[in-house]
Amino acid sequence: MNQLYGERAVITGAASGLGRALALVLAGKGWKIGIADVNDAGSRETLELVERAGGSGEVFHADVSKPESVKEMADHFYSKWKAVDILVNNAGIAISGVIGDIPLENWKRIVDINFWGVLYGCHEFIPRMKAQGGGYILNIASAAGLLSMTNMGPYNVTKAAVISLSESLKVEMAPLNIGITVACPMFFNTNLVKDMKHTDPWETEFANAAFQYSRISSDEVARRIIKAVEKGKLYVVPMLSGKVFWANKRLSPSLYYHLMAFMHKHGWLRAMSLKIARWGLV
Ligand SMILES: NC(=O)c1ccc[n+]([C@@H]2O[C@H](COP(=O)([O-])OP(=O)(O)OC[C@H]3O[C@@H](n4cnc5c(N)ncnc54)[C@H](O)[C@@H]3O)[C@@H](O)[C@H]2O)c1
Repeated sequence: MNQLYGERAVITGAASGLGRALALVLAGKGWKIGIADVNDAGSRETLELVERAGGSGEVFHADVSKPESVKEMADHFYSKWKAVDILVNNAGIAISGVIGDIPLENWKRIVDINFWGVLYGCHEFIPRMKAQGGGYILNIASAAGLLSMTNMGPYNVTKAAVISLSESLKVEMAPLNIGITVACPMFFNTNLVKDMKHTDPWETEFANAAFQYSRISSDEVARRIIKAVEKGKLYVVPMLSGKVFWANKRLSPSLYYHLMAFMHKHGWLRAMSLKIARWGLV
């Protein structure tokens, strides 16, 4: 890490997918991992894998949508380890659908986890990292937050908020010696879409294809993210497809969205998105 060479990580959502993969990359470097999740059985499995990979750690039951639970998590690891070198705000869920059809309680649920969960983590850990003289925060957003993908409104909005929060932190945290990275991956296969809520079966069909045909494993995504953290990069967009789509959007955001809207209006966007997903290019 550029700010602090440490050995103690707290990772939310570490019972599965990317959180587990990140835990294993750091475990391979000998780190201690705080495995925080609502899924205790999955967290215990991660701990076994962490120990096999050469690290050590501890499971903590935390629900990131509850501020008191995130505070307890921070209290717990600070009382045990005295300092935490990196906080990884990774826990997340996916909800897709057409805006207007999506029940408001689904919006509230995803904002509570994907946005407030990250903010509670920052709120609890920043003062403690400040007191210890520095640290690092890795926020897991998504390329969806850069691209506002169709029929993914709730997910897009929460991830865009995490990107904006990370950009705000990058500047504010510089004098405190707290480094910031925000990760924006495209699709890769995890448990994320197993319980995904949708308003139209196409959304699940697309998500399943994107996951099934993804060419990059969660392990590889985790390795690329940790490499970016070690270099102190603000943004990490681990997939080439994400870099290409993001470059196109930045070239002319207005043209980019006019084109998407035109294709959607004429019924081409869904068929094309599905095709690209099946080619493993999202
Ligand atoms: N898989 C992808 O294609 C993809 C792409 C871009 C970004 N991401 C992001 O990566 C992160 C990890 O997702 P994943 O793909 O590994 O999915 P996953 O479902 O395999 O893992 C998510 C973990 O978060 C935990 N979790 C959910 N709600 C929680 C809560 N309230 N408190 C604590 N833990 C909670 C789950 O129990 C699970 O262990 C998410 O933020 C996701 O949005 C995933």
